[in-house]
Amino acid sequence: MPSNVVSLALNGIDAIKINVEIDTANAIPAFEIVGLPDAAVKESRERVKLALRNSRLYFPIARLTANLAPGGVKKEGPIYDLPIAVGIMMLEGRIDPNAADKSAFVGELSLDGRVCRIDGVLPMTIGAMKMGIERLFVPYDNAREASAVAGIEVYGVKDLNELYDHLLGHEKIEPTESVPFEINDPSEILGDFSEVRGQDSVKRGLEIACSGFHNVLMIGSPGSGKSMLAKRIPTIMPPITFEEAIDVTQVYSVAGLLSENSPIVGIRPFRSPHHTISPVGLSGGGKVPRPGEVSLAHHGVLFLDELPEFQKNALEILRQPLEDGQVTITRVGGTITYPCDFMLVCAMNPCRCGYLGHPTRKCTCSELSVTKYLSKISGPLLDRIDLHLETAPVPYEALSSKEAAETSKRVLERVNRAREIQKERFKGTKTRFNGRLTSSQIREFCRLGEKENEVMKNAFERLSLSARAHDKILRVSRTIADLDGKSDIEVKHILEAISYRSLDRKYFSA
Ligand SMILES: Nc1ncnc2c1ncn2[C@@H]1O[C@H](COP(=O)(O)OP(=O)(O)O)[C@@H](O)[C@H]1O
Ligand SMILES: [Mg+2]
Repeated sequence: MPSNVVSLALNGIDAIKINVEIDTANAIPAFEIVGLPDAAVKESRERVKLALRNSRLYFPIARLTANLAPGGVKKEGPIYDLPIAVGIMMLEGRIDPNAADKSAFVGELSLDGRVCRIDGVLPMTIGAMKMGIERLFVPYDNAREASAVAGIEVYGVKDLNELYDHLLGHEKIEPTESVPFEINDPSEILGDFSEVRGQDSVKRGLEIACSGFHNVLMIGSPGSGKSMLAKRIPTIMPPITFEEAIDVTQVYSVAGLLSENSPIVGIRPFRSPHHTISPVGLSGGGKVPRPGEVSLAHHGVLFLDELPEFQKNALEILRQPLEDGQVTITRVGGTITYPCDFMLVCAMNPCRCGYLGHPTRKCTCSELSVTKYLSKISGPLLDRIDLHLETAPVPYEALSSKEAAETSKRVLERVNRAREIQKERFKGTKTRFNGRLTSSQIREFCRLGEKENEVMKNAFERLSLSARAHDKILRVSRTIADLDGKSDIEVKHILEAISYRSLDRKYFSA
């Protein structure tokens, strides 16, 4: 009689049920794994055999075949060590098959029989719960991470002997208690808005951006505080919710970035990859696919500092993730998808020397070099940016002023109010923020009165704004009106939104 044990595979962050069947035959002793295993899965044979023998557990002298079904799903990594070992333990009725009923097993084995930490346990647990699996056996070091999921019992397994005793019913492993969800305060790590002197209009722009989840670009001379401001953006975003934290943690779980001490990501991500990053590093993928920076920034901020320094093909790859809020990676045998709904924040100098438009310093760039510098940023990327903020150099008086600037907490109170209004507005829809309004939603939620229409028309003609600026101005106007507590968009809201497009004309004549 073959034994049958349930395990799991991941496609992106979606779990798939895998049946591990083990059969023996009276033939020359051998051990084979079939069912689209990768090299790491094939290596299971040696690990499982030695782990069982070194734990003084049964390993048959026979021809063994482990079949991982369905055969069409790629099986990757060392996670099948544990279910294969359990399947072998269960051969010939050594363990009552009911003991593993409604249970699934994942885990890597070391040669002495210990169960070692693996990646991707959180999304596997969520998937298992949805499949109706009642008990999930995971490496002990992953148990806290898995315990965040309600509706499934998680068992953290230290070694094979412990699991054997549990399945025999001799000595039970206790299910893991769920870890309390703790939200971390980003200002402790990233600093507070009040530390940035002056820059009131840029701060106002960032407040609008965070209120409506709008993508922003900061342009200004070196040392004007762009990086300093960007880093503090998460401190004026609402704290991460439990649901968002689970979404984010799934990505970090697959990426292997969790530790036993911090099993759940309790903070909005702030990712700031260096400009030398490869397209794959940014978007995700690779031989053994991993989420990229866009996905690690899910529900948080992706900050691209010194934007023109990034490889052009890396920036171009951002187009689809920005459009869809998810990234699809094509690979042999199918595609995988990771979520990536992030707020894009970019910073750049206005030209190579950095002093174009500076009030006191002279720019040494030629007109051609300025054009070349700016042309490095692709149109499709700019297309997804709603606000352009200019950081002027901070005057000495502002830097040395004793007057306390507004704290992140105060700004956040206003952001939260604007978010509440959006929650009401988007009830029952997939949209969550003004910054993600589709064209048809813009027509519904950003209707203008006669006066407002007139202002918009005039501005377009006078400033020769492009058609693509139109939707962005309306989205941003909606957020400004929300911050103002107004249900209708008014003239002053439109005028302010237009002021954040001024760079369109100045630097990029789109
Ligand atoms: N507005 C500001 N308030 C306080 N300090 C500032 C400000 N702008 C710049 N600084 C100081 O100058 C340093 C460089 O600023 P940074 O944010 O790196 O500028 P940028 O990214 O625009 O080149 C900061 O670390 C900070 O010490
Ligand atoms: Mg900088």
